[in-house]
Amino acid sequence: MRLFVAICLSDGMKDALLDAQNALYDRGVRGRFTPEENMHLTLAFIGDYPEAGPVLEALSGLAFSPFELTLEGLGCFGDLWWAGLKDSAALEALARKVRRTLAEQGIPFDRKRFSPHVTLLRRASGKLPVTVLRPASMRVEAFSLMRSDRGKNGMIYTELGAVEAERRA
Ligand code: 2AM
Repeated sequence: MRLFVAICLSDGMKDALLDAQNALYDRGVRGRFTPEENMHLTLAFIGDYPEAGPVLEALSGLAFSPFELTLEGLGCFGDLWWAGLKDSAALEALARKVRRTLAEQGIPFDRKRFSPHVTLLRRASGKLPVTVLRPASMRVEAFSLMRSDRGKNGMIYTELGAVEAERRA
């Protein structure tokens, strides 16, 4: 099965991303827009792996505190357009811990540098504007192990389990 580790986004965050997609569409941009239920922030892409259990077990030992995540700016990797996130030491630290934990357990993952983004659309045509994203933030209280399957109408992402942030007494 194809696995990845991600932060699932709040409804408020997804609303802001949907508004940005609509604004792009209104400006004539076309492409394969990410459906709302597929919007997420990937921390590590594992890819094909035989079992989810050991991955979730390894990750569940990871301790982190809740933190704020804020959308900031649009960008692209070729014709893949994304919404960026404001620089966050806590987010970088969480991605680093997730990746270190996977490496320590011998679970392979894509070693490309962590480049925090939420994919808005693929195969985009048109000119990337800078001004369509309204401010939105959320509190990250957990991250998730996700499974990715190719469906008839695009990718289907399923949450297999979540690791909660530490709560102060
Ligand atoms: P993307 O949206 O920029 O394509 C599930 O595929 C998630 O893992 C997506 O968020 C995807 O990012 C991310 N991802 C990171 N590295 C990947 C890779 N090598 N292959 C496929 N998806 C990858």
